[in-house]
Amino acid sequence: MSAPATQGTHHVSPGAKDLVRIEGVHKYFGQHHVLRGIDMTVKNGEVAVLIGPSGSGKSTLLRCINHLETISAGRIRVDGELIGYREHAGKLHELTVKEVARQRRNIGMVFQRFNLFGHKTALENVIEAPVQVKGQNKAVAKKRALELLDQVGLSDRAGHYPAQLSGGQQQRVAIARALAMEPELMLFDEPTSALDPELVGDVLNVMKDLAASGMTMIVVTHEIGFAREVGDTLTFMDGGVVVESGNPREVIANPQHERTQAFLSKVL
Ligand SMILES: Nc1ncnc2c1ncn2[C@@H]1O[C@H](COP(=O)(O)OP(=O)(O)OP(=O)(O)O)[C@@H](O)[C@H]1O
Ligand SMILES: [Mg+2]
Repeated sequence: MSAPATQGTHHVSPGAKDLVRIEGVHKYFGQHHVLRGIDMTVKNGEVAVLIGPSGSGKSTLLRCINHLETISAGRIRVDGELIGYREHAGKLHELTVKEVARQRRNIGMVFQRFNLFGHKTALENVIEAPVQVKGQNKAVAKKRALELLDQVGLSDRAGHYPAQLSGGQQQRVAIARALAMEPELMLFDEPTSALDPELVGDVLNVMKDLAASGMTMIVVTHEIGFAREVGDTLTFMDGGVVVESGNPREVIANPQHERTQAFLSKVL
């Protein structure tokens, strides 16, 4: 069965505020300088697509945005709030685990490998965080979870365990599960790259619908068609820097840098 798809593109309102501001972000793993001064802003309601070769730092950047990784320098703000740190006299002090958890509730993340709880049904996976983390009433959470499963085209799979679902279905449950926390921002790290080709479309359609509903999204993907159709911006990273960024159609049709051209010629 196919997930629903919305036709046409969504529109970011002209006066939309910056929801995500990344300024001068560096990241070292030991001696390894992985992010080398990243600046990026994502407006409210915008879909920012991130591409780049393996090892360029895309996942690391996403993981820094919800503080799954510390940063070595710079600032990341979501809705004006500094992520992972508080600033005092020009210095950053890392937030407590509890404070970070509060910030993360606002940021949904979907990974390449579906990370559902194997011993829980689709429905149980979706209600887990609202009930356990937010203390939501179970009946309320269940009603909302069924709506979300319907939204991702899986209303008839609520009682299935992950092992009884295809990879694409599991990934759509993972999206519903992230949405159940009502995040302001969704991060996707190659959500379709582990899927069989025939399952990719349904997941992309769910993401396209989500974009059309006004969700702010940062999407790491090699699906250039998705970037062109759904993305408001396309950012090409290489070697821990942003090489170029702009309107997806323009970047794809007329890349300004040799490295972007070389990369696009491999994935197109
Ligand atoms: N926890 C870690 N410890 C040490 N090095 C790391 C760690 N995580 C990532 N790296 C290194 O950081 C660099 C960037 O990795 P990252 O996963 O962000 O790249 P990517 O652009 O997402 O690549 P891919 O397209 O393969 O997913 C790589 O050289 C990687 O080996
Ligand atoms: Mg990655």
